[in-house]
Amino acid sequence: MAEEFQKWVLMVTAQTPTNIAVIKYWGKRDENLILAINDSISLTLDPTHLCTTTTVAVSPAFNQDRMWLNGKEISLSGGRYQNCLREIRARASDVEDKNRGIKIAKKDWENLHVHIASYNNFPTAAGLASSAAGFACLVYSLAKLMNVQEDNGKLSAIARQGSGSACRSLYGGFVKWVMGKEENGSDSIAVPLVDEKHWDELVIIISVVCSRQKETSSTSGMRETVETSALIEHRAKEVVPKRIIQMEEAIQKRDFATFTRLTCADSNQFHAVCLDTSPPIFYMNDTSHRIISCVEKWNRSEATPQVAYTFDAGPNAVLIARNRTSAALLLQRLLFYFPPNSETDLNSYVIGDKSILKDVG
Ligand code: ADP
Ligand code: DP6
Ligand code: CO
Repeated sequence: MAEEFQKWVLMVTAQTPTNIAVIKYWGKRDENLILAINDSISLTLDPTHLCTTTTVAVSPAFNQDRMWLNGKEISLSGGRYQNCLREIRARASDVEDKNRGIKIAKKDWENLHVHIASYNNFPTAAGLASSAAGFACLVYSLAKLMNVQEDNGKLSAIARQGSGSACRSLYGGFVKWVMGKEENGSDSIAVPLVDEKHWDELVIIISVVCSRQKETSSTSGMRETVETSALIEHRAKEVVPKRIIQMEEAIQKRDFATFTRLTCADSNQFHAVCLDTSPPIFYMNDTSHRIISCVEKWNRSEATPQVAYTFDAGPNAVLIARNRTSAALLLQRLLFYFPPNSETDLNSYVIGDKSILKDVG
């Protein structure tokens, strides 16, 4: 290769929001392909505050694939990164940048290496689904760079092989991950239920209780649950299938009371199976429990519920208010019960729909 030719670098940057499950995925039937033991439904968040930005670059000057996460180099040797890279590379097609005289033929991609730089604008590995935004963004940006001609359904199945929850971040609005039946995972994909405009009165507020990295990753937590919990099978086979049907109906009808009942119950059951794991996994802390009590008490004092809560694999609360009035009241309550600089480490709130960040820490 001529030296001149070796100098070019081709780059693509993409941004992908995170998503929070209202009916949770917890447990795999295939660890390598990442196939779930139940369907799940999530809400993709406003990308302004909780998102991943990933830049992927290719150059003949690169002699190996490398990745930096939040400014620190990480190893790409793990199966998940390799699976995503392999699946995208296998679908690469010709790329041409006429202005710069760069031409990459389909077959060249096998011998070209990529450099990846990714940033999360919210806490990583703290239970706010960084793996979802992260792997969705990785797959999406690589697909753009390599001119992959696949629809979002197929890309979701590739992102799923990076992190299960990532498949749902390829779409906005409410999204369902269909667990599928096939052994090769071909039908285990995300499908959009309704877009972000369907229920746009909802306001999402994230209470960052603790932004430290969690002790048990989602991957190892759910593996231990499947291996040791006596309740998980009942949840996956009996409870979740019914909830999925009811939740889809509640979303279609914008039925906030049913939506709240199902969302809160599913979050609580997910944390119950974590507690039923041996050794038990505690993702929530005292502040999380106090937030639950506060919302439950308020909802019960009103004719209809005002706020749904859900907690992923971490202590941070995702609060979904029925409209802007309820959201404002919720913020007032949070500030009253968890004043800034109190003994709790609750430190910031993000309003999901209109991108207001209120740091009370
Ligand atoms: P979370 O609750 O934040 O999703 P997980 O335990 O599921 O926590 O996953 C955290 C892991 O996801 C990180 O340790 C890292 O391996 C991966 N991850 C997080 N952000 C990114 C990113 N932007 N790009 C690629 N991988 C990421
Ligand atoms: C509690 O998708 O992070 O957030 O597939 O092993 O990467 P891996 O796990 P991950 O698990 C998410 C669990 C959850 C619920 C959900 O997002 O559905
Ligand atoms: Co995750």
